[in-house]
This record gives sequence, C-alpha cells and structure tokens, in this order.
Amino acid sequence: MSDWTKSDWRAKPRIQMPDYTDTAALNAVEAQLSKYPPLVFAGEARRLKAHLADASRGDAFLLQGGDCAEAFDQFSADSIRDTFKVMLQMAIVLTYGAKVPVIKVGRMAGQFAKPRSAPTETVDGMELPSYRGDIINDLAFTPESRIPNPQKMLQAYTQAAATLNLLRAFSTGGYADVHQVHGWTLGFTEGEKAERYREMAGRISDTLDFIKAAGVTNEQAHTLESVEFYTSHESLLLEYEEALTRIDSTSGKWLAGSGHMIWIGDRTRQPDGAHVEFARGVQNPIGLKCGPSMTSEDLKLLMAKLNPENEAGRLTLIARFGAGSVGEHLPRLINTVREEGADVVWVCDAMHGNTIKSSTGYKTRPFDSVLREVREFFGVHAAEGTTPGGVHFEMTGQDVTECTGGVRAVTEEDLSDRYHTACDPRLNASQSLELAFLVAEELSNLRNTRAKARAAG
Ligand code: PEP
Ligand code: CO
Repeated sequence: MSDWTKSDWRAKPRIQMPDYTDTAALNAVEAQLSKYPPLVFAGEARRLKAHLADASRGDAFLLQGGDCAEAFDQFSADSIRDTFKVMLQMAIVLTYGAKVPVIKVGRMAGQFAKPRSAPTETVDGMELPSYRGDIINDLAFTPESRIPNPQKMLQAYTQAAATLNLLRAFSTGGYADVHQVHGWTLGFTEGEKAERYREMAGRISDTLDFIKAAGVTNEQAHTLESVEFYTSHESLLLEYEEALTRIDSTSGKWLAGSGHMIWIGDRTRQPDGAHVEFARGVQNPIGLKCGPSMTSEDLKLLMAKLNPENEAGRLTLIARFGAGSVGEHLPRLINTVREEGADVVWVCDAMHGNTIKSSTGYKTRPFDSVLREVREFFGVHAAEGTTPGGVHFEMTGQDVTECTGGVRAVTEEDLSDRYHTACDPRLNASQSLELAFLVAEELSNLRNTRAKARAAG
C-alpha cells in the first residue's frame, strides 16, 4: 500500500457526502483537525484485528452496538454509561451462556454521519435537504439548519474525544470489574429476562467466590477487573476521516485515527468509489455492510481491494438482508467467500433490513423481525458449516420506545412516548438483553452440536 495516500479518495466518485458551500471554512477546519491528536492508537487497532481473527475461527464473538446516530444534544455521561452498561450485560450473557470470549465494540465516539435514502425531505409541502447527521447539518426542519456546516466536525471531534475518555475510564477504572456484575442491572429492566440476568449474575458471583477461595493469584484475577472496549463508526464523511488519518510510527502504515474499527455502508460500497478507496489504505479492521443488492462480482472485487493479503481479522462482512431474506442471500455470498478462499468475519446486522413505517407514522422495527433475522443467520451458518462471528445492532441504554415488541411489549401506539432517536429506531435495554439471550442460545447450540460431531467423528 506504499503508493496510497490519505487524499486519494478525492479523485474518485463520491456519493452521500455534503457539498460544502464555504470552501475556505472547510479547508480551515480540515487544517485544524489535522493538527489534533488522533483518538486511537495503532496498537489498539491491531489488537482488535487479532481478536477479530479469533472471531473468524469461532474462538471469539463480536458484539457491536450503539446509536444509529450519536447526537450533540443527547451527549451526557449518563447516556454513555447506560449504553456501556447494556453492552456489558449483553457480553456477560454471551460469555456465560455460550462460553466464548466477547469482543465489545461500540457504535460510539464517532458515529455522527448518516447516509440517507433520499437527498431531500418534504414536510407540509416544504422540501429541504435531508438531515445527514450532527457532524454535517441539523435535524431541525428549517432551511438554515440543513445547510452543511464544516464547523460541526470540530464539535464531533470534541464529543468523540470526551466519549472515548469516559469509555476508557469505565473500562479500566473498576466500573467494568466483573465482580460488579449485579450492579450493571438498569433500574427499569424488570421482567423475565431481567430475572434470568440476575440469576446468571448470582451464579457468576458464586464462581468468583470459589475462584478466590481456591487461591487464584491476584495477577490472574486482575484480568477480571477490566474490559477491552473498542469504538467504531461508518467512515462516511471522508474529509473528517482524512484529517484524522496518520502514519503509525511503529509500523509505518496508515491508521484512521477516528476510531478503532470503521465500516463502509451498504450505499457507499461501490468498488471504484471514494469510500472504498479511503478504507483500503488504512490498517484498521474494516467492516463492509452487505445488503440484498450485493453481487458476487462486487464482493470479489471488494475483498480483493480491501484485503488483498487475506489477513485474518481485517475484513468483517456485516450481513443485513432483512428477516425472510437471509436464506436467499447469505448462502450465495458465503459461497463467493469460499470460492475466493477469503478469510472474513461474518456478522449479522439484524436492524437495517427490518425498518418499516408504523401505522402511527413512525419509522420502527418489529423486534420479532430482528430476532428472526438472527435465527436465520445462525441457521444458514449451521447448514453451511461456516462460522457466525458476531452481531451488530442499534441500541441504547435509555428506556426508549422505538422498536415494537419485546417481553415488555412496545405497541405501535407506544412509539410516540419515548421516541428519541436522531435517525433509525434502536432497541431499548430490555430488548437488547432479550436479544443477547437469544444469541447466547443460538451460539451455544451451534457450538455444542459441532463439538459433539467432532467427538463422534
Ligand atoms: C447504519 O449502520 O446506520 C446504516 C446506515 O447501515 P447500512 O449502510 O447497512 O444501511
Ligand atoms: Co442505522
């Protein structure tokens, strides 16, 4: 990749990016961001890549989740803590339930730019440019709000830095100590799944007491007192990404310094487009969203561009077909990967193929469809003999009513109560926990079946 530079994407066709009108202001912001420290260190990105390589072999499992879009006006310590807490709860359910190490990656500290299905939006006869995320323009429906403003990149950087700072503090400062497993329960997670969680937490506490009594040394016990938590976002606003991209002095390779893992969205994955050009040159782990329109030919080209050396853990394919469509698309793409002998991590995004408009006018996702897509994903991997490597979802620790269903059933009429998302509907804490139990069950069934088959033959 020696001939690649971080601005090469500028010569390629770009879509889903704003046309800034004030070029001088844009250039000034880019110059300023280029002088700011990167948010992550290359060694961390390499470590995540090594964990993802484990996931590609079934020796670890990726849990990737967070907001659809982080918003400036929802930025608070409580919301970061609650999302982090739900991720820890989900991870412990998976680790305990499926006996597999869980790689925790937030859609956090950089998830600000959004691709949109339409360039404009019309309300009561007024047509305005679409909202594209807080790093680009404002959600308010006024002509001024929708003008892309480069200054917003600086605010996004500041929010990302502060978010990451708190996440690092929670990860290593004692909050994520597994001995706190009871304390991660959120106040409003009542009901059957919360009860199951409390029971599991009780068994974990017993095990920890046993370990201590059995005389495990302090040094070994230390690994239970902190977690590794990584950040990720869609690499969409390439001016921001380029400005934070640096040469890592240890390896001499480029690193996108905006987050540990970046992904390419389903709308911007053209093999000859700007977004693929940018991602191919940085050493971070790369995610690639694969929707129903992904062809085998494109997937081959993309794998060759994004992972020419077939490095394990480099490329994560995030399947998002929608419940009922997994059987039609996943097997053919698995086949393509097999034909190419490619090493990838297969991840299920059970959100983006399941968005509908409710009868009450809200963009929502039926929780049943989310669960169904996860089951179909595991079913196809079971049939193909391949490895389900993780799940990707939109969630929040806040008690929102954005997706319908779940054990504490949210109805279409409830959606208006606490519908706070800046973009797509997210799972609330209770639905997230329910999803984690389902994934743990699917994963442990698959692992047990395969272990038995190995033992038998
Ligand atoms: C997203 O992850 O928020 C998103 C827009 O996904 P996709 O590119 O898969 O539609
Ligand atoms: Co989304």
